[in-house]
Amino acid sequence: MGTSSDRAHTRVVVVTGGGTGIGRAAARAFAERGDRVLAVGRSERTLREAADGHPRILPFVADVCEPSGPEAIVSAALEHLGGLDVLVNNAATASFADLSGLDHESVRAQVETNLVGPILLTQRALEALEVSRGVVVNVGSAGALGLRSLAGNAVYGATKAALDHLTRTWAVELADKGVRVVGIAPGLINTGVGVRAGMTQEDYDGFLAGMARRIPSGRVGEPEEIGNWIVRISEPEAFYVNGTVVTVDGGLSVT
Ligand SMILES: NC(=O)c1ccc[n+]([C@@H]2O[C@H](COP(=O)([O-])OP(=O)(O)OC[C@H]3O[C@@H](n4cnc5c(N)ncnc54)[C@H](OP(=O)(O)O)[C@@H]3O)[C@@H](O)[C@H]2O)c1
Repeated sequence: MGTSSDRAHTRVVVVTGGGTGIGRAAARAFAERGDRVLAVGRSERTLREAADGHPRILPFVADVCEPSGPEAIVSAALEHLGGLDVLVNNAATASFADLSGLDHESVRAQVETNLVGPILLTQRALEALEVSRGVVVNVGSAGALGLRSLAGNAVYGATKAALDHLTRTWAVELADKGVRVVGIAPGLINTGVGVRAGMTQEDYDGFLAGMARRIPSGRVGEPEEIGNWIVRISEPEAFYVNGTVVTVDGGLSVT
């Protein structure tokens, strides 16, 4: 039986956006599994909080959008942790606006963070991933699957739909290099991202409560419920999961 990594037990993992929300939960789940994790983000404070009590997590301040970001991130993994087995492209940004309300800066930030960053970081990581016969996990969004749409969320959703396409294409391109590429599509997860995207706390809470009534599983998800699946689909036992996007959304996307 083939495996995606010769180092099945202790791996080196890079999680972008590892300081908060889903990325923090994933970083901790990897660390609890015994992996060593480079948690990447722009805020040193949140990265340190994520690493608190988790000595296997190394905080690393870097911006995936900066031209020097990919080089700095991969070099840090190689120099400080000795390799790179799993790259989790999780960092993203979202801002709500309909077409008439879009501004250049918010469009640029979403495309750069959610799409250009993962492309250039994965490209820079490729050599190391070939050595480890590693895994790329792209974090998309269940809201951007198939034919669904959410008014005001077009640019974010477009970046996530494009990321899913990269997952499929890279899985084919990189298969003969021994690199596996998978996506995960979270549903509505209580990370506070709506507030960071511009909603008031009250509006975000109302949005979550309203959506919870539509979710077959009966509630919004918790970051750990995605973090654990990111770990699972990266494991050697998931070798045969390749080029696909795994939906973890309490059934919302099939309603
Ligand atoms: N929460 C949900 O309901 C939901 C649903 C579907 C999909 N998702 C996806 O799940 C992933 C995590 O979302 P989340 O809810 O956990 O949101 P979050 O807490 O806002 O996490 C985003 C992370 O990305 C980091 N980041 C943003 N821009 C960056 C940059 N230029 N360079 C490096 N790091 C950057 C942020 O840290 P800094 O600001 O410190 O850099 C933050 O830690 C995202 O890909 C999101 O699209 C979330």
